[in-house]
Amino acid sequence: MSLLELHGVTRTVPLPDGTDLHILRGVNLDVEAGDHVSIVGRSGTGKSTLLNLIGMLDLPNAGTYMLDGVDTLALSESRRAALRGDKFGFVFQQFNIFPTRTALENVEVPLLYATDKRFWARHRLAADMLERVGLGDRLESYPAQMSGGEQQRIAIARCLVRKPKVILADEPTGALDPDTGQAVMGLLEEVAREQNSALIVITHDMKVAQRAGTVYTLSDGILHDVNMFDDDEARPVPASGSTPAMPGPGGTVPGGPERLAAPRETAPDKKAFRKEGEAR
Ligand SMILES: Nc1ncnc2c1ncn2[C@@H]1O[C@H](COP(=O)(O)OP(=O)(O)OP(=O)(O)O)[C@@H](O)[C@H]1O
Ligand SMILES: [Mg+2]
Repeated sequence: MSLLELHGVTRTVPLPDGTDLHILRGVNLDVEAGDHVSIVGRSGTGKSTLLNLIGMLDLPNAGTYMLDGVDTLALSESRRAALRGDKFGFVFQQFNIFPTRTALENVEVPLLYATDKRFWARHRLAADMLERVGLGDRLESYPAQMSGGEQQRIAIARCLVRKPKVILADEPTGALDPDTGQAVMGLLEEVAREQNSALIVITHDMKVAQRAGTVYTLSDGILHDVNMFDDDEARPVPASGSTPAMPGPGGTVPGGPERLAAPRETAPDKKAFRKEGEAR
């Protein structure tokens, strides 16, 4: 039994002109505990829509979704909300951090809902996690006083502080320079490994995508497993150091479905966080 099992999942929304937009047309996805999956695809292909469905923030029109053996679509809204808070950590595309709360208070938010000792330890846990993302010296700063990349790292610390079994990250490195981006990915991977969590990352950056064990493209409302095209003779490895590629028309990666690198076992590069902190 997989941790996550989505089968035939569709999502259709009505448009103002009375027509329907078929965003997802039958997504199948199996994710095991400890898996690292990335999803690439052109803008508007439905990646965030899919992540919201996986995180139970939205409901599909059709299909099935089992989470740890539980039929999520059969649950009441309150049970879904409880399961969501228990299992998932989100890094949203638009950070969604609270502007009127400090960095520390933002990261404490998920722990306010903890029903165990983590509630009482929330200051220390939040401060430790901010330290791990290189913001240990900015606990009392407000988001408006911080750069976009620093706000992104608050969002990442908030995602990880409850040690979720499923980490859902929508463009987690979108606002970061390449070094900090790789360091943040290293941290997400390290925390996921520590607790055998699944890590699902949406990205436009092929270097970030290639860190995953499985890479999917989302196009025409369907997930395509890029690794299925893996063919050592026929598919060239992208030149190292090349500009991170944007997915091309149809949600494919420019140059065809290239062979993608095996998952990397790199530890997070804390130096990259420090570098930025020291520069301030
Ligand atoms: N509630 C909604 N009502 C109408 N259209 C919607 C709704 N939600 C999403 N869409 C549309 O569905 C499509 C998929 O949106 P989504 O945000 O999932 O794309 P995405 O792949 O995450 O794009 P990006 O890479 O730009 O973030 C878009 O065309 C979007 O405009
Ligand atoms: Mg999106």
